[in-house]
Amino acid sequence: MTPTPVPLDSFDLSDVEGFWAGPRDVREGAFETLRRTPGLVHYEERVIEDAPFPPGAGYWALARHDEIWHASRNPKLFCSGQGSNIGDLPQEMNEFFGSMINMDDPKHFRLRTIVSSGFTPKEVAKVEGYVHHKAAAIIDRLDAAFPDRTCDFVEHVAAALPLQVICDMMGIPEEDHAKIFGWTNTILGVGDPEFVSSYEELMAHSLEMFTYAQDLGEDRRANPTDDITSVMMAAEVDGERLTAQEFGSFFILLVVAGNETTRNAISHGMKALTEHPDQRDLLYGDFETLARTAMDEIVRWSTPVIHFRRTATEDTEIAGQPIEAGEKVVMFYNSGNRDERVYPDPYRFDVTRPLQPAQIGFGAGGPHFCLGANLARREMTVMFDEIRRRLPTLRITGEPEYLQSNFINGIKRLECAWD
Ligand code: HEM
Repeated sequence: MTPTPVPLDSFDLSDVEGFWAGPRDVREGAFETLRRTPGLVHYEERVIEDAPFPPGAGYWALARHDEIWHASRNPKLFCSGQGSNIGDLPQEMNEFFGSMINMDDPKHFRLRTIVSSGFTPKEVAKVEGYVHHKAAAIIDRLDAAFPDRTCDFVEHVAAALPLQVICDMMGIPEEDHAKIFGWTNTILGVGDPEFVSSYEELMAHSLEMFTYAQDLGEDRRANPTDDITSVMMAAEVDGERLTAQEFGSFFILLVVAGNETTRNAISHGMKALTEHPDQRDLLYGDFETLARTAMDEIVRWSTPVIHFRRTATEDTEIAGQPIEAGEKVVMFYNSGNRDERVYPDPYRFDVTRPLQPAQIGFGAGGPHFCLGANLARREMTVMFDEIRRRLPTLRITGEPEYLQSNFINGIKRLECAWD
């Protein structure tokens, strides 16, 4: 894709229906303009209809790689505890919705320690065989389920694996998977009228999920199994255990983060491989060697999570722009991942792109770096491995229907076909 040049005063990063739902080349052009503009640009926040909270005082957009890196790695100066999405919520709601992603140390550290034991490379390697088995089953059923050899890639391929894996890791029974899928769609679909029609609806779904999680947690505390829920409910840090409320919020974070992001990475990846057949042939021809760089390139290329926010804890400056204590900065990972000062030829999809300098789709480092990065890379690798082994002619044949969002680079539907 070649970005379309766009003047600075012609776009508004807070305009979800206009800017974010608009053409992708314009979006790329706008961020290129922001990266070239000296200093920082400030944006007003949009008014969310029927939300019980007024919009905040706006935010500074961080579009260059080094600025995002700086904010992400200086958590004392740029904290998460006042919220990690653009809008402000009362503190209890921040923690209710975001769990540790909206916390600072020492609270964040305590929670992260409890859960991180379930996500080490060793733990992820344990589920490897089982992830292969699931991915193979997803691909193998396509021929029988779709005799015309065409289907929606998102629903029938990309979404199925992360959903099953995270649900199984958490110990959620199979009959509840569809319910979980619906809830996570609603939570990350905020802004897209297909998923959330009102603020009340969002709250109602979140509460249902929270109650479900509390019941699951209580059950595993009483009857532990070998799932992560049991590990978390039994874990103690400094003599303290997770409360049912903490687990409820944690559950929402893990299940939402584990589901939507990886699904979108797989969908964007298949689209990119279809549009760049030379890169697909390279990858499929030497999968063992190239899988690692290719998966990171897919994450750089697609940047499934568009932004996270931080709040300045004291007066400081970035790129010569003074930032006052209490002001917000928003790290646009999509833009950092296209920064021409860091990535040569950033608009080229290149499955051999070196791992350093690292892409920042899982965050730019610091205490909140994606807990599921190892798991997501494994799931993506296994899925593309099974596709190239079992159905190498699988390709995208339709135009993507994108999620309307400034937070998740989501694809709702994407037609595919095979021979
Ligand atoms: C391609 C897939 C994924 C992408 C692009 C992604 C992206 C991100 C990003 C950008 C962050 C914020 C990093 C920061 O603020 O420094 C994050 C945090 C997080 N991710 Fe992921 N993620 C993915 C998959 C997963 C999976 C599979 C899981 C879990 C099952 C997961 C769990 C989390 C959690 C729990 C956090 C919060 C960590 C903290 O606050 O300490 N993610 N992810």
